[in-house]
Amino acid sequence: MIRPLIAGNWKMNAGGAEGRALAEAVGAGAAEAASHCDLLVCPPAVILAAVADALAGSPVAVGGQDCHEAASGAHTGDLAAAMLAEAGASFVIVGHSERRADHAESDALVRAKAAAAHGAGLIAIICIGETEAQRDAGETLAVLSGQIAGSIPDGANAANTVIAYEPVWAIGTGRTPTADEVAEAHAHIRERIKGGIARSEEARLLYGGSVNPKNAGELLAVANVNGALVGGASLEAASFLEIARQAPS
Ligand code: PGA
Repeated sequence: MIRPLIAGNWKMNAGGAEGRALAEAVGAGAAEAASHCDLLVCPPAVILAAVADALAGSPVAVGGQDCHEAASGAHTGDLAAAMLAEAGASFVIVGHSERRADHAESDALVRAKAAAAHGAGLIAIICIGETEAQRDAGETLAVLSGQIAGSIPDGANAANTVIAYEPVWAIGTGRTPTADEVAEAHAHIRERIKGGIARSEEARLLYGGSVNPKNAGELLAVANVNGALVGGASLEAASFLEIARQAPS
């Protein structure tokens, strides 16, 4: 049994006092969920250190939402993976579809970012997923295969790499794939990461896209789903923790 990971991606929300309060509330309520799953919050980078301080001594880990592929240098506005680690992160999300779309991030860039994360001792959460047009065209599994082939760096293993399957059309829309569709995608991902991720049978595969307290139980029970990447529903401690409570134990 793979221990589930429930990760909150706050995106560009809760970047100040609101985020510190949210972190404190998640930390205060985490004990029950943490008995059967790992918990992670990924706040905006400006409060990552404050959130890490607020969660010190709690079972909740902290992660970044992106990192640069270089270790340092003239990259105005960017953050190196080691900076995130120094601020208290142990994870970083790379290749989220919003970054792939908003910043034209390619698989090759995502791969380089994941390698940089590993170099800084961070666990990389590599996001993949098809658009609605790709699903309608029957291309979902081929798209996932291509993203897996292109985005996973050398040296990836079940301890330093998590894959998040996030259908682009399910993010922030309230729509989710059926349990059968999630099962098909995750079985495919499990198969395709053989060779790319050492001990791939132990790697955590998260589902993400409109996970909420009402659908979490069903989605988290799907074969090869080892947790969730939660956006909107992670912005309230109660809903985030309720999702975590429903992770299989
Ligand atoms: P959502 O976002 O839960 O708001 O759909 C998930 C994500 O993009 O990670």
